[in-house]
Amino acid sequence: MSAAMTPAPAVGATQKSTLHTPLCDLLGCRYPIVQTAMGWVAGAELVAATCNAGAFGFLAGATIAADKIEAEILRVKQLTGDKPFGINFHMFQPNAQQLLDLAVKYRVRAVSYGRGPDKKTIARLRQADIVCMPTVGALKHAQKAIEMGANAITIQGGEGGGHTGSVPTTVLLPQVVDAVDVPVIAAGGFYDGRGLLAALAFGAQGVAMGTRFLMTTDSGVPENTLQRYLKVKDADKIRISHLVDGMPQRMIANEYLDALEKSSPLRRVWIALQCARQWKSQTGMTTGHALKILMQALREDASSVAQTVMAANAPMLLQKSMVDGKPEQGVMSSGQVAALIDQLQSCQQVVEGIVAEANYRRAVINGYGDIHI
Ligand SMILES: Cc1cc2nc3c(=O)[nH]c(=O)nc-3n(C[C@H](O)[C@H](O)[C@H](O)COP(=O)(O)O)c2cc1C
Repeated sequence: MSAAMTPAPAVGATQKSTLHTPLCDLLGCRYPIVQTAMGWVAGAELVAATCNAGAFGFLAGATIAADKIEAEILRVKQLTGDKPFGINFHMFQPNAQQLLDLAVKYRVRAVSYGRGPDKKTIARLRQADIVCMPTVGALKHAQKAIEMGANAITIQGGEGGGHTGSVPTTVLLPQVVDAVDVPVIAAGGFYDGRGLLAALAFGAQGVAMGTRFLMTTDSGVPENTLQRYLKVKDADKIRISHLVDGMPQRMIANEYLDALEKSSPLRRVWIALQCARQWKSQTGMTTGHALKILMQALREDASSVAQTVMAANAPMLLQKSMVDGKPEQGVMSSGQVAALIDQLQSCQQVVEGIVAEANYRRAVINGYGDIHI
């Protein structure tokens, strides 16, 4: 039997090394594995299960109601016996400031974000010893984020779930690793030990995964929706659309996306206004705050106004799938790896399986005789 055909080892069978990298010291976790923030999915339970398994989890702060954030933070602390974890936020969310104050108050280990906060805010977080670890999809965004103060960078290749760029992980990762001098974490398309080992070989200090953690028994995603993820076997069916909120977003094609693609521009405006109204009432956003965001978009870039109006679409349509259990009526954000995952496991099984498989692959490669990793 060739090495490539050797069956995957049983969990724990070849688990010799924890694959410790400097990232583990920076984040305070056992393994160089990160669970990314996912709206409505990465709540206290998933984050705690991730951290208890030895990886590092991010709470999806942007979809947690303002009055529940503090309770979620305390719940993670309680469920993990105070293990380090992180929070994700978006500057445009109405409770961004409150979330940042809580991050400082509770000394969370790290924050992740996309379009970032200003230098002053990042400096405040860094002073509180919080790792600032944005996710980027292009080299220039990585460089800009570091100039603003970030001290670790997650790159997300185009195969990743949710909002994503067009450059694949295998191109973006070496490009960023070669250009920056902060730890780089690889995201987009990871789900197993081979991927972790490959990412380390590329020069990353760890991997970050969304879809793999969504597809666990700890994610709390309704069974109906999880079954739709398990059913996808063709990575081509997990595709990018700009129609949800004007930005490229990878998701599992479904009835809703089909209908959206067939609907008129006027109908899409109607959907956006409905979502914005719902988002405004769920988050307690005042009309004044909504107008302020619109004015800012207008000042920064007039062409982004339509995008700003549609910004509420993604969280509202994701909620249908991830909370209401009605995947046919909403968006199923997903990385292409969903097509390769055929069973739900616990976070513990996922993390231990990845580490065991990475060790096993390393042993196989070392067995070639001439290569030692
Ligand atoms: C259901 C879902 C929701 C997501 N929500 C967010 C979010 O709220 N904030 C964010 O920064 N990224 C979000 N993402 C992107 C992930 O954090 C992560 O970067 C991506 O899933 C990595 O690619 P992978 O799915 O191939 O592992 C989401 C992804 C998925 C699948």
